[in-house]
Amino acid sequence: MARVVLINSSPRAGGNTEQALEECSKAIERENVETQIISLRGKQIASCIACYSCKKTGRCSIDDGLNEIIDEIRAADGLIVATPVYFGTARGDLMSALQRIGMVSRGTDQFLSRKVGGPIAVARRGGHTATIQELLMFYLINDMIVCGSTYWNMLFGGAPGEVQNDGEGLGTIRRFGENVGFCINKFKK
Ligand SMILES: Cc1cc2nc3c(=O)[nH]c(=O)nc-3n(C[C@H](O)[C@H](O)[C@H](O)COP(=O)(O)O)c2cc1C
Repeated sequence: MARVVLINSSPRAGGNTEQALEECSKAIERENVETQIISLRGKQIASCIACYSCKKTGRCSIDDGLNEIIDEIRAADGLIVATPVYFGTARGDLMSALQRIGMVSRGTDQFLSRKVGGPIAVARRGGHTATIQELLMFYLINDMIVCGSTYWNMLFGGAPGEVQNDGEGLGTIRRFGENVGFCINKFKK
């Protein structure tokens, strides 16, 4: 069965990003595509050290748990990343993870090619669109297929749970999830 990996970079258990991804995941599963939410919480994801050893070994030389996440992504059909907005940008650990994931993909068999997905940004008040644009750079250089929705994939919420008050945002995320599932099913035919 087709499967989508959804990465949550929020350090808050039960936070707004987690709740957004649960909504997205349910929408994808209604399209009969499996989902797997992976949290970076508690992990110490380091930045790429530009050793280029992934080109030779196919693995990242840093042993902090990211290789196991790469294995899950490699086997999946889709990849969605979600982040709380911090000072108008994505969280640093998500960017570190994506830069290393991209490097391993590009240095080996381009396993990211044609994986379907896109980014989601959650913030109390501002910085969503800059964050989405920042994250799109990863998708577009790695030969991936980005799905849209009826608005940008952004949700408003400060304290954990506040995102539930953003009905339009949740609707946008549901439609995005449906589109991801829809595209994967089309490509599988
Ligand atoms: C270090 C830090 C920086 C933040 N920067 C922004 C910001 O630039 N814009 C904004 O609207 N909210 C900002 N916030 C608020 C979070 O984006 C918001 O609380 C979000 O819901 C957190 O998601 P989570 O519950 O999944 O962790 C910031 C929070 C922290 C801890």
